[in-house]
Amino acid sequence: MAKTNLLPPTSGAAATIARPVASPVASPGDTRQTPRTAPLGIGVVGAGYWGPKLIRNFQASADACVRGVCDRDPARLASVGQGDPTIGLHTELEGLLDDPSIEAIAIATPVDTHFELAKRVLMSGRHVLIEKPIAASIEEAETLVALAEERGLTLLVDHTFLYHPAVEKMKELLDDGTLGAPLHFDSVRINLGLFQPDINVLWDLAPHDLSILSWLMPEPPVSVSATGASHWGKGTASVAYLSLAYPGNFIAHVHVSWLAPVKVRSVILSGTKRMMIYDDNQVLEKVKVYDRGIAESSAESSTESGSRDDEHRHRVDYRMGDMHAPHIAGDEALAKEVADFVRCVRTGETPRSNGQTALAVVRILEKAQESLMQGGAPVAV
Ligand SMILES: NC(=O)c1ccc[n+]([C@@H]2O[C@H](COP(=O)([O-])OP(=O)(O)OC[C@H]3O[C@@H](n4cnc5c(N)ncnc54)[C@H](O)[C@@H]3O)[C@@H](O)[C@H]2O)c1
Repeated sequence: MAKTNLLPPTSGAAATIARPVASPVASPGDTRQTPRTAPLGIGVVGAGYWGPKLIRNFQASADACVRGVCDRDPARLASVGQGDPTIGLHTELEGLLDDPSIEAIAIATPVDTHFELAKRVLMSGRHVLIEKPIAASIEEAETLVALAEERGLTLLVDHTFLYHPAVEKMKELLDDGTLGAPLHFDSVRINLGLFQPDINVLWDLAPHDLSILSWLMPEPPVSVSATGASHWGKGTASVAYLSLAYPGNFIAHVHVSWLAPVKVRSVILSGTKRMMIYDDNQVLEKVKVYDRGIAESSAESSTESGSRDDEHRHRVDYRMGDMHAPHIAGDEALAKEVADFVRCVRTGETPRSNGQTALAVVRILEKAQESLMQGGAPVAV
């Protein structure tokens, strides 16, 4: 997982992908060349836990249609094929690549298969929606991002939370100044989780928080340190704690675990003006904004007459204002993400969760892994 930058730098997140020059012969990569109204032909690789959610959302979209599914496990394939004879079922990727009606492919397989599968799909001229994290190293991630850009293909990496209405609200509150300057991000993402055979808990769960942070913060962290412990198998960390130092005094902490008795999904974001909590377990009031904080008091402290507590109180003023819970829409994040993907395939625009977002996440993950191996020593990002 050494940092190897073999490829030219890639363009910024907001860039628009140039449309390829029109070709008289239709091919899977020609999706942007002619005005079209037919649904985008989709193939899905991986029909385990997450793949069927992608299939459901593509099928629910008026602008897309799942034409084929591939899974190495025939039993998994049979379970998605039931009830829809129009979906071609394949045990090898070639089955999807040989189908000219498939213009874009979603990959929902284990992380250690992402690079090879995505490379083959991009080389075939198809657009890709790939699960998080995009790949298992910075080098692999850079190769995929460069390949998509060179070929003018849409690459969306499924960092689902970037499309979650609560996270959108978090960004809005930060961008419109409601929270003030960001001071502190503290996330807990723990439950009795599925122990993954190919990755540790850091690579499994932390991509969610790291993608949120990458979207919220204008700059990447300066360094990361990670500690963790393995409680099963061959030394794979099942609990990990990440600390990220950013330019200025903003700090982020991410706690991920597969070894907790209950599911906790909470983020605290504190700013100079207000603080907020996003608790994904809440059905209503997922986001609460607190008009609370501290300010340095201008009052002089008295050490002769008062106690140390009095002295402390004189130096720090606590603002204990109201809490309000803004309305959070109930839209399914994955449905919005699928819509963004189809729209970007059609227009050539860059999706919100794009190759650069994915690279930012993998850069932190790889450095966090280095830190984990060094017992938590800070590693520059
Ligand atoms: N965005 C999210 O919130 C979210 C949530 C869960 C999982 N994921 C991601 O989805 C991906 C899959 O996770 P999962 O939990 O569904 O795993 P899973 O093990 O349940 O399913 C993976 C499927 O891929 C198939 N497969 C493996 N290698 C293959 C290959 N080379 N060709 C064809 N099929 C192959 C397996 O047979 C299996 O059915 C992972 O990258 C994971 O990180 C994302």
